[in-house]
Parts: sequence; structure tokens; C-alpha cells
Amino acid sequence: MLKCLSYCYHFEMPVPLFICPLCQSPLKPAADTWRCDGRLHPKQTSHPFDVARQGYVNLLPVQQKKSKAPGDSQESIDARKRFLNHGHYASLQGLISQKMTELLYQDKQVGDHKSKSVNWLDIGCGEGYYTQAMAQLGLDAIDTLIAADISKPAVVELAKVSKMAGQLWYQQNEQPSTQTTVIYPLVTSAAHLPLRPHSMTGISSIFSPILPEAFAEVLADDGYLIIAKPDIGHLATMRDALFDSVREHDSDKFLQELAPYFTLIDTHRVSTELTLSADDLADLMTMTPYAYRARSEKRKALLAAVETEAFNTEAKFVVYVLRKSSDK
Ligand SMILES: C[S@@+](CC[C@H](N)C(=O)[O-])C[C@H]1O[C@@H](n2cnc3c(N)ncnc32)[C@H](O)[C@@H]1O
Repeated sequence: MLKCLSYCYHFEMPVPLFICPLCQSPLKPAADTWRCDGRLHPKQTSHPFDVARQGYVNLLPVQQKKSKAPGDSQESIDARKRFLNHGHYASLQGLISQKMTELLYQDKQVGDHKSKSVNWLDIGCGEGYYTQAMAQLGLDAIDTLIAADISKPAVVELAKVSKMAGQLWYQQNEQPSTQTTVIYPLVTSAAHLPLRPHSMTGISSIFSPILPEAFAEVLADDGYLIIAKPDIGHLATMRDALFDSVREHDSDKFLQELAPYFTLIDTHRVSTELTLSADDLADLMTMTPYAYRARSEKRKALLAAVETEAFNTEAKFVVYVLRKSSDK
């Protein structure tokens, strides 16, 4: 199978997947330093981006940062990693993998993407619990997986795991006989994606930012967008214990913002009963942004109650499958 590594070759012409975050010129990956060719820079200057020893590339220029350490903190990433590795959200991970398989496998065998490389962007990938499952779908579904997050500690974690599994883009060049989906871990902002317009087959945003225009820009015609969000009633008993009154958010409001660019083709729901130890609950509260807004006495009281008896709650998720509208 023809694979898309640093460049995709159609009609013998190299088509770059990445663009420079500083001057938007084509950006060429390499094992040690990525370089743009500077053709769009007024002085034709080439910009270098070093590959970190863990195997990620930082494509977030300082002028695109709104704080010193944007995105999720190390503490929240560590908590999420522990919690997710206990399998509490495995049903959601399975649902996302199943939906991607249905969309992509079918296309790769007979459909639109049969002869093309399938390039998937997981935006706001965090430390990669869902991204790693996407990589496991293999070449029958995805050729190139771009794992992007604005949080450097999140991308470091994901890159370390991918490197150990030999899945980074430059490792595949070393062992062409064992080719699997290649992963590019990138520190970048969803608002300034360093990707060539129309280069992505699909994007997933799992509890992560949704930027309709930026996503439509980098998606190919008819490209897919998969969005996962908490459903109404998600972790209701935890929220009841933390807040005096609980207001359900309007989980469908973002669909109105997507409507000018995307058509909703499917909605799926999944829920799981959770029985959590005190450590699990502490991790869940650390990784769940709104739990931070609870009063400290309420947080302490809840954690103290769980020391003697496991905590029961229900995780409820909704997954939206959309397709880019053909006129965008
Ligand atoms: C709730 S976490 C979800 C992480 C992962 N998808 C998961 O479900 O385990 C949201 C992620 O979005 C990232 N994020 C927030 N703003 C971002 C932005 N503007 N661009 C890229 N990533 C962003 C955060 O750093 C964080 O890792």
C-alpha cells in the first residue's frame, strides 16, 4: 500500500501535509528537525522546528500562546491517565473506534478514499487514551494520525507511549516491513492548525475545542468530524454532591455553530455505571474542569465519604458524526 509519510505523492508530485506555523510555507518532517521551505516568507526564510527527544514537535509559536503553559496541566493529565487506564470510559473509547472503523474501513475498501491516504487529526488529544485506540485500527482505516494538543505535557506523554510502540513517523521509515498507522504528536493550537487546507480525511474532538471554520479549512471535501461530549445527566451524583444546584448545559448548542460548514449524519449515546474508589474519584475530580469550581468543603466532604464506601455514578456520553458540506 502506498503510504503518506512526510509527503503524499499524487501524480509524482509531492503534496505537503504540514505547513509552517510562522509563514505557512510547506513544512517537511524529518527525524531530527522539520523545516519549511520559506517560499511564502517575504525574505524566503526557512524556519526549523526540532523534534524533541520524546518524539513530538512543538509547532506553537509564542505569539499564538495566550498563557505561559496553555492547555491541561501535568496534574490533570496524570489524573486522567490513571482514571482512563482503569477502563472507566472504555465504552466510549470502543464506540469511537467502532464508528471510525465503519466510516473509514468501508471507504478504504470500496469508496472515496480507496486510492488515497487517510489522514486523521485528533485535536485536543490529551495524553492519547482515544488516539492510541485510533492507531490500533491500523492501515485498513488510517494511514497517518496527527495527535495535536495545545498542552505540552499532554503531547509529551502521548509521544513517549507512541515512541515506545515504534509508531512515530520516522520509526516507520526504519522498519518498512512492519508498517502500521504512523503518529505525529504535535503541540499546536486548534485555532492555527499547521496543516495544508483540505488535507485531512477526518477530525475528532473528544471533550475538546470545536472550531467550525478552522476544521472545515483543513478537511477534505466530504471530510468527517467526530465529536464526543458529556450527555445530559453525566456524573449526576457527583455534581449533586459538589454543587447546591446543578444546571444542565445545552449539549446541542454547538451544532448550530457547525451547521454552516457541516451536516450531522449520526448521533450515538453510550452510558456506563461507575463504582469508584476514593482515588478514582479524586482523579475524576482533578480531570473534570467543573469539579474545580466546587467549594473546597464540598470536595473534602465527598472525598471523606468515599473513604468508607465506594461511590456510584453514571457516565453518559454522546458522539456526533458530521460530514463537511460539499460547498465549503
Ligand atoms: C478535556 S481534555 C480532553 C483530552 C482527550 N481528548 C480525552 O478525552 O482524554 C481537553 C484537551 O483539549 C486541549 N485544548 C484546550 N484548548 C486547546 C486548543 N485551543 N487547541 C488544542 N488543544 C486544546 C487541552 O489541553 C486538553 O488536553
